[in-house]
Amino acid sequence: MTFTADKLLLFGATGDLSQRMLLPSLAALHADELLAEDVKIIGTARSELTDAEFRSFAREALEKFLPADRRSGMAEFLGRLSYQPLDATTLEGFDALAEKVGTPDRGLAIFLSTAPSLFEPTIKGLQHAGLDGANVRMCLEKPLGTDLESSCAINDAVAAAFPEDRIFRIDHYLGKETVQNLLALRFANIMFEPLWNAAHIDHVQITVSETVGLEGRVDFYDDAGALRDMVQNHMLQLLALVAMEPPGNFDATAVRDEKVKVLRALRQVQAGETVTGQYRAGAINGEAVRGYDDELGKESGTETFVAIKAHVDNWRWKGVPFYMRTGKRLPERVTEIVVQFRDVPHSIFADKGARMIPNRLVIGIQPEENVQLSMMAKVPGLDRDGIRLRSVPLDIAMPDAFSGTVRRIAYERLLLDLVEGDQTLFVRRDEVEAQWDWVDAIRAGWADQALSPQSYTAGSWGPSAAIALAEKDGVSWHE
Ligand code: BG6
Repeated sequence: MTFTADKLLLFGATGDLSQRMLLPSLAALHADELLAEDVKIIGTARSELTDAEFRSFAREALEKFLPADRRSGMAEFLGRLSYQPLDATTLEGFDALAEKVGTPDRGLAIFLSTAPSLFEPTIKGLQHAGLDGANVRMCLEKPLGTDLESSCAINDAVAAAFPEDRIFRIDHYLGKETVQNLLALRFANIMFEPLWNAAHIDHVQITVSETVGLEGRVDFYDDAGALRDMVQNHMLQLLALVAMEPPGNFDATAVRDEKVKVLRALRQVQAGETVTGQYRAGAINGEAVRGYDDELGKESGTETFVAIKAHVDNWRWKGVPFYMRTGKRLPERVTEIVVQFRDVPHSIFADKGARMIPNRLVIGIQPEENVQLSMMAKVPGLDRDGIRLRSVPLDIAMPDAFSGTVRRIAYERLLLDLVEGDQTLFVRRDEVEAQWDWVDAIRAGWADQALSPQSYTAGSWGPSAAIALAEKDGVSWHE
């Protein structure tokens, strides 16, 4: 049933995500008049705050994390907020919470931004208080488990109260404009799709590099590591969007059906197809930074970098490696997808001394949103003894192409879709489980080989073995 929610209940309302992303995104939607006037936002968390205290918490968050030119109508936005303290581990407080929420006119959207250990008790509490009716939808923030088994347990617990068409699993990468643009690029242009296969593509690279280190998330990150923190979700979603077949239309079922087929076709990674690393002290942008152990305060075997050579075992991608790498404390913050095309089958310029460089499509997701296609062109000149060719970029910088449009936080799109009930950019249960299945096998392989991460200097591109992983196939990582 589709309904537009008029109440939004935010668990973890005083947490980091709420402060940095959720409240600013909601305020931005309000400022742009994208939230219906009657939508009310109820925050809940353990802290004993009054409505007024929560509003001033929210005001501070907006002042810190929402650009000043997007803050119009803040007083009215704050007027939408109220707060109810709750200890989600016991049933007791849920009746008072239900009373505070009241009866929605159209529907209630619940956003769980809490530790996953609270998911199950929270769902029980919501059921106990009757906050699980047919006009309630549930949104879950990562991490959705630490492996397939724990993820299934979470999914089962949520499924006991909500059907899949009312469960919204967030992967915030899907809310990023350029990630959605990947679909537009592939399926709104005729020129890529006929070439988008093993006959014409040599390999694909997906890089998500970060300059930040632990950022105070000591316990969470050390338990997770780069594979579970970044590959299991964001990077596999990017891979699925690159590799999927054209869906019949742009709706939640069609898009997710195609993504899950790719995730299920991922070949089990073999020994030697992954490299893990952990940063030691070094420098980023000329500034000295500590090593991981030092930041953590103890020795650890957790990987802060991972590179993987993956394969999608289907007709379209037979023999095309997907090289993925992600890490903390790398030299730049970059998320990009590189599609490396094959060489022309025959060069008519070979005896004229021209060197051919195969076409390459680079989709920059962040920090720059751009699409760059390298093409061969003739260097101008009256050369007598041959022809000189050079690879030149066709470059679309999205902010220039669409100047005057607002650059939005990924959560604005996702929160709006949650309120309106559109699941296209949310992850379905079968996707999450296929993702965990593949990642669990990689971790089991690491455990069998007693693999420990290789050390790399903060500010470098990871262990040299990651460069070798691609280079032994004659491939260089794009920089
Ligand atoms: C989160 C990870 O999911 O994504 C973080 O837990 C990571 O470790 C973050 O820093 C990256 O997101 P973005 O949008 O900054 O690329």
